[in-house]
Amino acid sequence: MARTEAAATLAPDTLTANNLEAFWMPFTANRQFKKAPRLFVGAEGMHYRTVDGRTVLDGTSGLWCCNAGHGRPRIVEAIARQAKEMDYAPAFQMGHPKVFELAARLVTYMPPGIDHVFFTNSGSESVETGLKIALAYQRVIGQGTRFRLIGRERAYHGVNFGGLSVGGIAPNRKFFGTLLAGVDHMRHTHDLARNAFTRGQPEHGAELADDLERLVALHDPSTIAAVIVEPVAGSTGVLIPPKGYLEKLRATCDKHGILLIFDEVITGFGRLGAPFAVDYFGVTPDIVLTAKGVTNGTIPMGAVFVKREIYDAFMHGPEHLIEFVHGYTYSGNPVASAAGIGTLDTYEEEGLLTRGATLADHWADAIHSLKGLPHVIDIRNCGLVGAIELEPMAGAPGKRGFTAFVDAFEKNLLIRVTGDIIALSPPLIVETSQIDQMIDTLAGVLKSVD
Ligand SMILES: Cc1ncc(COP(=O)(O)O)c(C=O)c1O
Repeated sequence: MARTEAAATLAPDTLTANNLEAFWMPFTANRQFKKAPRLFVGAEGMHYRTVDGRTVLDGTSGLWCCNAGHGRPRIVEAIARQAKEMDYAPAFQMGHPKVFELAARLVTYMPPGIDHVFFTNSGSESVETGLKIALAYQRVIGQGTRFRLIGRERAYHGVNFGGLSVGGIAPNRKFFGTLLAGVDHMRHTHDLARNAFTRGQPEHGAELADDLERLVALHDPSTIAAVIVEPVAGSTGVLIPPKGYLEKLRATCDKHGILLIFDEVITGFGRLGAPFAVDYFGVTPDIVLTAKGVTNGTIPMGAVFVKREIYDAFMHGPEHLIEFVHGYTYSGNPVASAAGIGTLDTYEEEGLLTRGATLADHWADAIHSLKGLPHVIDIRNCGLVGAIELEPMAGAPGKRGFTAFVDAFEKNLLIRVTGDIIALSPPLIVETSQIDQMIDTLAGVLKSVD
């Protein structure tokens, strides 16, 4: 087929299974999708528009990233202006003003002492970067025997080898060989027997942080470089840390000279009703990983924040030499940087990074009202995140969740499912009436799903 002919067949009204074939879709049931495609063609505020003209309420901020909603003028204009003015500047040994401006503004959101930032292009790259910084830091301060990394069961830290290695989701890991050597995992914190239907942080489970002491005893502290956790584990199905758990992890890391890394790719930028999880939980790690909300999902970008002493430790040796041998062609790309600045402007002007706190009670009441509906075995919430866990169908784990996802989409609501857990994380501009609409639709879905 001639090139122009192929393009013409992509017009929305002529979509067929054939012209959807070339694209191998990520984390998608490709064959199912291509038989019954779900295509968005527009987005504004709280809504998507589908190829067949329906308006779909966004219950997930895209993929946990469009925290300020869609089509925000400040961001759109900043991107357009920058693309015209200067599309790209080399990221290595050269710079441009916008990336320094963005960095200087971003670090003001961090607790005192975390005041340097390294740019990446995604959450997965932020994870790799954070792990590499941790390992290299231990080496430059003369602690080179600290080569181990500790993650946690059920953790999601993206899809690259380091992130998969410290991650704890078996289906994501099992195809890819031995992964990184020298990694171990703490137990996860999900405990339905003791904590089902908790509002906010569970009462039970702080002692699970003692699992780190078990690994320290097993491996010896002198071999452990860093511990990485999501403050709230998102992609595995929204696991909220038990009261006191993160504090214990911090204390154990301090005791043994281990760096603590928070993966805030989901929790960052207002998701919990505070700018970051470090604010929400009052626990300060050594390294904070972010992506997604940094540009409101518009242009790929991630940001890795580090404590001053980590940055300073690298700033030695001959000045013409590169201190940290790492970076990406697109680290701090001008258009992404402009998008980041437009995003911060939007968050600040509309008070979005703390708006979740004003909605949190309404959100909690709404989501917990689904208790008692068929198959619901747990509901949990924190800030503007929530999850509804369904009993898996006998012999077909994940089927009930997937059916709920498709049914919700047909009922004009975008939700996210992991197995049989439904996750909700609406844009921070959501109105209470839209929360109610979301929950009403979901109630209808839950009543009709087998
Ligand atoms: C906690 C966490 N870390 C890392 C990632 C990976 O981000 P990305 O998909 O941008 O590579 C995700 C993505 O959802 C995430 O939730």
